[in-house]
Amino acid sequence: MKFDVQIFDALDSTNTTLREQFSGEAEGYVVQAYQQTKGRGRFGNSWSSPKGNLYISILLKPDCPYDQIGQLAFVAATSIASYLQQTFDSDDVNVAVKWPNDILVNGNKIGGILIETNSLNPSRVDQVIVGIGLNVFAQQADYIKMDDFTDRLGNLDAVRDDLLQSFGEHYTKWREMGFSDILREWKKYAVGIGEKVGVRLSNEHFYGIFVDVDDTGNLILDQDGDRRLISAGEINLGK
Ligand code: BTN
Repeated sequence: MKFDVQIFDALDSTNTTLREQFSGEAEGYVVQAYQQTKGRGRFGNSWSSPKGNLYISILLKPDCPYDQIGQLAFVAATSIASYLQQTFDSDDVNVAVKWPNDILVNGNKIGGILIETNSLNPSRVDQVIVGIGLNVFAQQADYIKMDDFTDRLGNLDAVRDDLLQSFGEHYTKWREMGFSDILREWKKYAVGIGEKVGVRLSNEHFYGIFVDVDDTGNLILDQDGDRRLISAGEINLGK
């Protein structure tokens, strides 16, 4: 997969700029900003975006059914985890994913993914924006960064290129082979399976045992013997 990266010194949000100004570009178009003034996270949270970290948005044109968009969260998370694992290459550094797409290193969040679509076609998705924020060099309160775990990092552009290469490999695998290989690789990094978790949806919070992820990416939750399928939300592990 080829990427065409457009770099800006500062933007409000790379996802917003890509959607508003560049959605007519070809698949693989990437908007990068060295800092964001209104970086956005999931659930309407803001994403603090000082200089020194990676902020990119990737334009995809997957032409897939609408209910497969969620799988791209697993594609992106697995590609980032695999890139970090290779980069750190150390038994002391544990890279993990928390359903569906938080990236953890030694139990702390190091990056996040915001997937958005404004596809004009209700049955087939012709356009998806995958926004990735990854803490590389800049210290932020309560957060960790890649630079804490290796002294072999190149500059931010090299980090971006290596990450995009991993993303391209995983996205191509998903398009050509479907979801099962991606999900299998994602599960190798997954935390919380078999444990009690809290689940936060936009308007409710509840607990249950995280039994597994089904073959479409839904979280299977056991609540006192009743199974509930969760397609979107956030989980908290017991800490
Ligand atoms: C999360 O809440 O975990 C997701 C954070 C996603 C942040 C990235 S930074 C690049 C892109 N542009 C944004 O405004 N958000 C995403």
